[in-house]
Amino acid sequence: MCGIVGILGSHEVSPILVEALGRLEYRGYDSAGIATVHDGRLDRRRAVGKLVNLSDLLVRDPLRGKAGIGHTRWATHGAPTESNAHPHRAGPVAVVHNGIIENFRELRAELSAAGSDFKTDTDTETVALLTERHLAQGMPPVEAADATLRRLEGAFALLFLFEGEEDLLIAARRGSPLAIGWGEGEMYVGSDAIALAPLTDRITYLEEGDRAVITRAGAEIVDDEGRRANRPVRTVRAEAARIDKAGHKHFMSKEIAEQPRAIAAALDAYLSEDGAALNLPDTLDFAGVERVLMVACGTAYYACLTAKYWMEQIAGLPVEVDIASEYRYREPPVTPGTLAVFVSQSGETADTLAALRHVRGRADRVVSVTNVVESSIAREADLDLQIHAGPEIGVASTKAFTCQLTVLLLMALRAAEARGALEGDALADRLSALRALPAQITGALDLDGTLREAAQRLAEARDVLFLGRGLMYPLALEGALKLKEISYIHAEAYASGELKHGPIALIDKAVPVVVMAPRDGLFDKTVSNMQEVMARGGQVLLVTDAPGAEAAGEEVWRRIVVPTVHPMLTPILYAIPAQLLAYHTAVAKGTDVDQPRNLAKSVTVE
Ligand code: AGP
Repeated sequence: MCGIVGILGSHEVSPILVEALGRLEYRGYDSAGIATVHDGRLDRRRAVGKLVNLSDLLVRDPLRGKAGIGHTRWATHGAPTESNAHPHRAGPVAVVHNGIIENFRELRAELSAAGSDFKTDTDTETVALLTERHLAQGMPPVEAADATLRRLEGAFALLFLFEGEEDLLIAARRGSPLAIGWGEGEMYVGSDAIALAPLTDRITYLEEGDRAVITRAGAEIVDDEGRRANRPVRTVRAEAARIDKAGHKHFMSKEIAEQPRAIAAALDAYLSEDGAALNLPDTLDFAGVERVLMVACGTAYYACLTAKYWMEQIAGLPVEVDIASEYRYREPPVTPGTLAVFVSQSGETADTLAALRHVRGRADRVVSVTNVVESSIAREADLDLQIHAGPEIGVASTKAFTCQLTVLLLMALRAAEARGALEGDALADRLSALRALPAQITGALDLDGTLREAAQRLAEARDVLFLGRGLMYPLALEGALKLKEISYIHAEAYASGELKHGPIALIDKAVPVVVMAPRDGLFDKTVSNMQEVMARGGQVLLVTDAPGAEAAGEEVWRRIVVPTVHPMLTPILYAIPAQLLAYHTAVAKGTDVDQPRNLAKSVTVE
C-alpha cells in the first residue's frame, strides 16, 4: 500500500513532507519522493529504498518551497527504481498515486499516438501525461484534473501539484482512502490521520468519488456527481494517531505486548459494565439467519477459520469461510438467510472490499470487523464492529488477530444466545472465562525468554512444520504465516491428522515441528502424531498447558507450557507463543521485522 502526503504550509515543506512519509512507512514501500513548487517552479527529488536515502539526497540537493506533495511507493507496475518512484511529472504537473489505474495501457497507447513519450513503466505516469495534455489544451488546473479523472478506471487516491500554483492541491479518492487535515493557515493531505498526526487532529475523510480543491483557505469538495459535498471535520483522538515504539525494539514486539490491554478494550466495548452480559449492537440480529459467510485474507482469514469452529460448535450455525481473492470468482450462490462477515484489520484490503461489494445486496446483512473506523470496508458494511486494537504498525498482524478473534467469539456467543443455544449460567461461565483472558495473555507473554531460546534453533532451519487439531488447526496456519512472513523461512501448517497422508515424508532431524495442542479431547491423537514425527527423527516443539506437558512426557525437543484456559479461548492464548516464536526467529535472522521484504501492511491492489 503506497503512502501519500501533501502540504500547503507557511514554512519550507521538504522536511515536514519526509517526516509525514515516515509515519506511513508501516504501510511498506521500496522507494520515496517529494515535489514542491518554489517561486512558481515545480521540482522533485526521488530515491530508491528507505526514506533515509531521500533525506540524504535532500541534504545534498535541497528542495525549497512551501507547497509540496510526497509519496512512499510499494511497487505494482514497474520495478522499484528511481525513475518509477513518485511523484510522477509531465511538464507543469506532478502527481502521487495509491492504487491501480486499470485502463492505463489503453491510455498509454492513446498518449503515445498523440506523441507523448514515456519515461517510466508505471500506470501513474499516464495520469501526469493526460493532465499535461489537458493543460496544453488551455484548461485551468482544476478542469484539467477533472478531465483526467473522468478518463481513469480502477482504484486510486491521487494528489496533484502544479507549476506556478503555490496555493493549490487537488485530491481525488476512488477506492483508496484520503484524508484532508485542517491547520491554522495551512492545509494538509494524507493517506490516513496517522500521517498528519503532529500537524493537526482536525480531519476530513474524502468519500468514494470525491474530488477536493485545496488552498490554504480550506477545501472545497465535490462528490462523484460534481455536486458540492460538505464532509464533516472530525477530531481524531491524538492517542489514536500517536505512533511510537514505546521503548520496544520493533513495533511488532510492542504490539505483541499490548495484547492484554487491546483484548480488554475489545471486551469493554462489547460486554456490559459488570462484564456479565453481552453488549453488542442490536443491529447484529441473528433472527432469520440460517448460515454465516466469512471472507478475509491472510491472518484475518485464519481468524475466520477459527470463528467457524466457535459459530458451529456454540451457536449451531453453519459457516462458510473463504479467501477473499477466491470468493467472488467461484460465483457462489448467496442464499436467503445469509449473514456475511468481512474481517480486515486495515479495512482497505482490495480483495476483501471487492468480495464485500460482490455480496452486498445479496446477503441479508453485511457485517465488517475492522480496526479502522473510517476505512472503506467499515463504511460499506451495514454494520461495522471495531476491534479496538489501536493502530497496528508492524506489517505482521498480532494484536489485531487476537482482537479479531475476541470480537468473533463474542459474535458467536451472541448468536448462541439469540438462538437459545446458550443461556443463563452456561453463558455467564463463558463470559467469566473471557474476562479472565487478558491476565492469562500476560502469563503467556512471560514465556518470552523461553521462546527466544527456542527460536535460535528455528532460525537455523530451512523448513518448519506447524501442526494443530480442531481449534488449533487455524492457529497452526497463522503460526506458519507469522514465521514465514517475517523470518523468510519456509513454513507450512497441517491438520495433525493429515500428516500421515503425505507431509510426513518431509520429516527428518532438520525439520522442526511446532505442535499446538492443549490437553483437550483431541490431545491423545496429537500425541500419536508427535510420536510419528519423533520416530522419524523429527524435533517436536510442543506448545501446550500443564496437563498436556505432563501427558506428553519428556521425549519432545521442547515444551512451551502456557496457562490453562477455557477450551474456547485456546486459539487466542496460543497465538502469543506463535507470535513470539516468529518474532524472535526473525530477530535472530536479522530480517526487517516491522517491514518484511516484499510485504505491505495493507494490500490495496487485487
Ligand atoms: C498478516 O500478518 C499479514 N500482514 C497479512 O496476511 C494480512 O493479514 C492480510 O493482508 C489481510 O490484511 P487486512 O486484515 O488489513 O485485510
